[in-house]
Amino acid sequence: MAFALSAEAEQKLNEIMARYPNKMAACIPALHLCQEANDNWVSDDVIEFVAQRLELGTAHVKGVVTFYTLFNQKRPGKHQLWVCHTLSCAMRGAEDILHHCEKRLGVHVGGTSPDGKVTLRTAECLAACGTAPVIQVDKTYYENLSIADVDRILDGLVKGA
Ligand code: FES
Repeated sequence: MAFALSAEAEQKLNEIMARYPNKMAACIPALHLCQEANDNWVSDDVIEFVAQRLELGTAHVKGVVTFYTLFNQKRPGKHQLWVCHTLSCAMRGAEDILHHCEKRLGVHVGGTSPDGKVTLRTAECLAACGTAPVIQVDKTYYENLSIADVDRILDGLVKGA
């Protein structure tokens, strides 16, 4: 079935397009909007939709999607968990947190837990270096983490909190 936006999301798309001097400049925010409306991933239908609405080639839109890691090219788990592994976080235990998440979730980086609840990723600096180590779950930051803190967060995700 072809991708379509709700009436509310259509209005947001029109507002996004009106904000920029040309339609091409609206490509990234339009893709974010459509990704969110499509269970957090950019399918071929979404690429075609955005290309058509912004009067761009599908190759251009696909190029944007494949360049930026914030666009998911396949359906992620219900939650996305990013472990920052840049310098400040690395010095304060990010690798231990990452390995702990892999063990707890039963996946390697880039994978989704077998229950489909969490996709595990690494991130470059999340701009919260002063409170390293940091993880991001969906749109929420968790800072100054211990392994016990990570366990509580993972328990909540697995239980659906
Ligand atoms: S290094 Fe992790 S937030 Fe900056």
